[in-house]
Amino acid sequence: MKVYIIAAMTADGFIARNSNELIDWTSSEDKKFFREMTKKSGVLIMGGNTYRTFKEPLPGRRNIVYSHQNIEQPEVETTRESPAQLVQRLKIEGASQVAIAGGSSIYTMFLKAGVVTDIYLTLEPLMFGKGIKLLQEDVNTKLTLNGVSKFNENTVLLHYKVIK
Ligand SMILES: NC(=O)c1ccc[n+]([C@@H]2O[C@H](COP(=O)([O-])OP(=O)(O)OC[C@H]3O[C@@H](n4cnc5c(N)ncnc54)[C@H](OP(=O)(O)O)[C@@H]3O)[C@@H](O)[C@H]2O)c1
Repeated sequence: MKVYIIAAMTADGFIARNSNELIDWTSSEDKKFFREMTKKSGVLIMGGNTYRTFKEPLPGRRNIVYSHQNIEQPEVETTRESPAQLVQRLKIEGASQVAIAGGSSIYTMFLKAGVVTDIYLTLEPLMFGKGIKLLQEDVNTKLTLNGVSKFNENTVLLHYKVIK
């Protein structure tokens, strides 16, 4: 099963200025890429902070949110399962692709669990200097570059495969 991280990042490695920032600084091409990829996959996994920036589930996708809170939104599934348990359950339920949509704590948890197969990183032409980094703990992950696409004059998409 394909389990991929999908993230937009500044040129200096940040995914947000703070934990409750709604990401409105990505290019229209990246927004389209995110929408199309995640709709194709059908399953979107995110953390509570990221969900709270959206305020409601993203339409046309199964929204699974890691949270200790009770999210009163019938279309949202909350979970506290380990990444391995969740991925295994989704596989049994018939998923063939799963998008790990952040934020930093969720990217880190899934990468450390060894269940991520692919990483899609959009590099936007911005630098924040400080903020929320893509990852927040030590990891030791080796990647191979599978493809580079230019979204527009200033934005590139990097597709990596995780070496198991
Ligand atoms: N640039 C991008 O591509 C991108 C993508 C995604 C997000 N972001 C941004 O990243 C920021 C949020 O990142 P973040 O790292 O602060 O937060 P996050 O990963 O979105 O969410 C963290 C929250 O997830 C829940 N959680 C984490 N591990 C859990 C576990 N094992 N069991 C149960 N719940 C668990 C907790 O929620 P509760 O507090 O509800 O218990 C925790 O507070 C936002 O600004 C968002 O907009 C950027």
